[in-house]
Amino acid sequence: MMLELNKITKSYDKREVLNNLSLQMNSGEAVAIVGPSGSGKTTLLNIIGGMDTPDSGSVIFDGQSIGKLSNKELADYRNTKIGFIFQMHYLLPQCTVLENILIPTLALKDKIKKKAAYQRALMLIERVGLTEQKDQLPGELSGGECQRTAFVRALINEPKLILADEPTGSLDQETANILGHLLLELNNESNTTLIVVTHSLELANKMETIYQLKNYRLIKQ
Ligand SMILES: Nc1ncnc2c1ncn2[C@@H]1O[C@H](COP(=O)(O)OP(=O)(O)O)[C@@H](O)[C@H]1O
Ligand SMILES: [Mg+2]
Repeated sequence: MMLELNKITKSYDKREVLNNLSLQMNSGEAVAIVGPSGSGKTTLLNIIGGMDTPDSGSVIFDGQSIGKLSNKELADYRNTKIGFIFQMHYLLPQCTVLENILIPTLALKDKIKKKAAYQRALMLIERVGLTEQKDQLPGELSGGECQRTAFVRALINEPKLILADEPTGSLDQETANILGHLLLELNNESNTTLIVVTHSLELANKMETIYQLKNYRLIKQ
């Protein structure tokens, strides 16, 4: 198993969000999570990504319990193992498209790895159709172009697990299709594991398995 969630429980104040939620995923699997607004989808992704902690239960990634990692190990887990794609893109306004994309690689010390990351950035920029915009600032781009930039940034370190939270929610149909395809191509090419929260049935139907988050748990559709 690449990822195991064991009996995750989470409440905010007295409001229960997740209860006894379990999930197992093999490397290379692609799943969609659907469910109404407020059902706990974002909370679940944040717990998997180590950005939030469950009240009880465990998240096991490649055999390691992430609740037992030191702060430094947890930061390393988030930076190198996980690619986050949010609904909002959170690009740095003073950095160009290319610079934003390279931010996760700044900590790399090895010159060969840095060069490889740069080449990968250019390749991914080409694949999402941003080559002409690569030296522009986010303020000079459309919303869809910003989201494409954020996609490439999330993918630059070749994460083993991609967590995407309504990644195409605010996009036009064409951009949504381009990015949906890119996620699936990476899933196929590099065996990247994929968890996509989405309201788009079209995107959800492209995944192997669809779960609904309901009554604080995941139910296979
Ligand atoms: N940091 C927080 N503090 C308090 N309540 C929160 C917090 N984050 C989420 N919630 C609540 O938890 C529930 C699930 O939220 P969320 O995981 O964002 O749902 P979804 O992503 O499915 O819309 C909601 O009722 C929300 O108000
Ligand atoms: Mg959400």
